[in-house]
Amino acid sequence: MKNQLCESFGFEHPIVLAPMAGVVSPELVAAVSNSGGLGLAPLWRFSVDDLRKYIHDIKALTDRPFGVNLNLEHPSEAQLDACLEEGVAVISLFWGRPGNLIARAKAGNAKVIYSAGDAQAAKHAADLGADAICAQGWEAGGHVFGKVATMPLIPSIVDAIGPSIPVIAAGGIADGRGLAAALALGASAAWIGTRFLAAEEAWTHPDYLQHLFIASENDTEYCENLFDIGWPDAPHRALKNSTIELWDKAGRPSSGSRPSEHEVLAVTDTQKEIVRYQSVSPHRNLTGSIEALSMWSGQGVSMVKRSQPAADIVREIVADARQVISKLPTV
Ligand SMILES: Cc1cc2nc3c(=O)[nH]c(=O)nc-3n(C[C@H](O)[C@H](O)[C@H](O)COP(=O)(O)O)c2cc1C
Repeated sequence: MKNQLCESFGFEHPIVLAPMAGVVSPELVAAVSNSGGLGLAPLWRFSVDDLRKYIHDIKALTDRPFGVNLNLEHPSEAQLDACLEEGVAVISLFWGRPGNLIARAKAGNAKVIYSAGDAQAAKHAADLGADAICAQGWEAGGHVFGKVATMPLIPSIVDAIGPSIPVIAAGGIADGRGLAAALALGASAAWIGTRFLAAEEAWTHPDYLQHLFIASENDTEYCENLFDIGWPDAPHRALKNSTIELWDKAGRPSSGSRPSEHEVLAVTDTQKEIVRYQSVSPHRNLTGSIEALSMWSGQGVSMVKRSQPAADIVREIVADARQVISKLPTV
């Protein structure tokens, strides 16, 4: 299944581990890269020192290419410089206008993937020199930039940026059928988040995992501004839970007037408090009411049924996609 994107970025299978702040461990990034995919580490909340340490932890586990994900709404220049000094192969940029960061990353010999939610944003980044575009559909878990579903978004972006810049499809892809569909739509790889929350190497809290395992495709909700404490005005998709129910019953009031706002729901192992409506990925080091937190999830959650080593997830998706493609009716 190797293609032009894999060749130019130096990986084997068209599978990218979605960067997922708070729950992607160095072990998970390395496991995906070691199994032939591309691991991306979400390090935009990290200080430069912590970012370097995390990168060293990955390097101790793999010689394969991996990437670092930075958030354009946060100051990212010092983090980018540290990544380039560390020789990180791929920089993934999301949430905002790229400014000169694409050119800076490329000047430092990194490949750049820019995440876009529509064709206009994709074209803008392509014109600035992005090496690939992640097209994130509305089905995606976590923070969601656009309002277009993956199925129409991929061909739209493929047409807008032309054949020389590969597109990576994100949102609702959780198995080999989704990968095959993404390839058929013109994407060069799938960028997979929710399915990798169930990787054994992920830092996902066990209660969060249990809720993912029993959820159906109807059990997520897209909200403009609900889990906004710590990150306002950033639409997102999460599992329906008691916090969404509480807010719904109160008539969906806006921020500042919601029931039990700032109620402490959980604490970290270093006693940091997590409050209701906070934007947080439930990490296994939390204790408290995990169910009431922002349990980010994409609509592909019904395909996530059990924990597995990341390498098995990569292997299974590639094998299933091959089978799906080989069984398509010939015309
Ligand atoms: C728990 C979680 C955390 C996320 N954090 C980030 C992040 O830090 N940076 C980013 O670019 N995208 C983030 N996302 C979005 C993913 O990169 C990706 O677009 C999404 O998971 C794809 O949809 P899927 O979950 O249906 O596979 C996050 C998604 C989840 C589920």
